[in-house]
Amino acid sequence: MKKYAIILAAGKGTRMKTELPKCAYPLLRKPMIAYIVENIVNSHSVDEIIAVIGHKKQVIMDILGEHVKYAVQEEQLGTAHAVMVAESLITDPEGDTVILPGDMPLIDSCVIEKAFHEHQDRRHDLTLVTTKVDDPEGYGRIVRNDSGYLEAIIEHVEASYSQRTINEINTGIYIVKNAILFDALKKIDNNNSRKEFYLTDIIQILKGSNHVIGTYYLRESYKAMGVNDLYALSIAEQKLRLLINQKLMLKGVAMINPETITIGHNVIIEENVIIHPNTYITGNSVIHKGAQIGPNTEIHESIIGENVVCKHSLVYNSTVHKHTTVGPFAHLRDGANIGENNRIGNFVEVKKSSTGNHTKASHLAYIGDATVGKNVNFGCGSITVNYDGKNKYQTLIGDDVFIGCNVNLIAPIRVEDNSLIAAGSTLNKNVPKGSLAIARAYQVNKEDYINRKKNHSDHE
Ligand code: UD1
Ligand code: CA
Repeated sequence: MKKYAIILAAGKGTRMKTELPKCAYPLLRKPMIAYIVENIVNSHSVDEIIAVIGHKKQVIMDILGEHVKYAVQEEQLGTAHAVMVAESLITDPEGDTVILPGDMPLIDSCVIEKAFHEHQDRRHDLTLVTTKVDDPEGYGRIVRNDSGYLEAIIEHVEASYSQRTINEINTGIYIVKNAILFDALKKIDNNNSRKEFYLTDIIQILKGSNHVIGTYYLRESYKAMGVNDLYALSIAEQKLRLLINQKLMLKGVAMINPETITIGHNVIIEENVIIHPNTYITGNSVIHKGAQIGPNTEIHESIIGENVVCKHSLVYNSTVHKHTTVGPFAHLRDGANIGENNRIGNFVEVKKSSTGNHTKASHLAYIGDATVGKNVNFGCGSITVNYDGKNKYQTLIGDDVFIGCNVNLIAPIRVEDNSLIAAGSTLNKNVPKGSLAIARAYQVNKEDYINRKKNHSDHE
């Protein structure tokens, strides 16, 4: 018996009033629909996930890749029609299918798991997940009969004045037996004010044919929040941000001004870390214990070692090993791999380069496409000249190298261990082990020049 999930993500998201399809919008830098897929997977309730896509479908496919199967809804004729296009992919008539909207990013795996249990334990043909909200505007309202049984879902636009006062709403999550789902959908018409095929009409259709319909009540209503416009997106993101921060703080991560701190859903932060204001840590980043991050720092897809201090800086797709300090105003990117006890200081950029332990670039340097040994000192203004306008070249620097201020290392170049490069040098030849390299114009002092020049002009 196979269990399926269908995610409805074909809509344009007209109320977003922007170009990107709604379900692709990010919260904490991760697309809304990716949260839904992740939570379905984590619920361990489903064997196969199908995403219904349509409007700008490639954008959704680029996000979800091979993790799901796709059904294409060419024209967005309503939520019932969207489920219908997945029919050929639901091959096991014995199983059940959970249907979820693609615009509810705060849903979690427990809700899906518990709703499935309720559905199976009570032998429902259909289980609808409902909740109560303070402001039900825009949601389908749950109409119950005098005995409290579900009678119908009435869409906001179709609801009477008194129905609009109902604050129990349709979350948009349904679990239905495959054997009855598609027959019921075929009976739904678009005889309503929007001329759409509403999935919500399935309740009345199944009621009419004496199927067993039940509800699963979700206490934490925020988890069912539907994101229809950019304001709702900001509210959902704020909620998610605070939930993640709260969990981390209770685990021993200190946060100064946590409402200004954004930590992504998949980030791992160990205890005794201090995070200062206006800091973003996203992607699959890991921050090891004792680190101090921020203020004003962005870390994305990066690993930060124990006791690293990183302030006012950007770190993308990079690794920083323990006891190193980064910043203020440093930029590490594209696979920078910084050793232990380094100092990457003011206005230093490191790209696709690695450094050994105890290496320092304290101010104003560019280190690109370089492999740098241990105990190297980059003087202020030193630069790896890695690009000739067409190609990028490598710089190799050994251990214990001292690079004076304002040095250009024109790549490809190798500077061997224990060498010294004089300040102001522009090198285009390798430097052998233990050498002093000096490549700059010699200084000439013309003594008494100023006086002589002055006397000369006085006699004119
Ligand atoms: C829907 C429900 C409403 C419920 C609310 C919960 C219907 C008719 N209404 O309203 O009862 O309270 O969700 O958030 O089902 N979609 C398609 N194809 C379509 C139309 C929509 O794939 O032809 C997708 C959208 O991309 C979206 C989801 O279905 O992810 C829900 O559509 P949306 O327009 O947001 O429905 P609501 O008006 O919010
Ligand atoms: Ca919605």
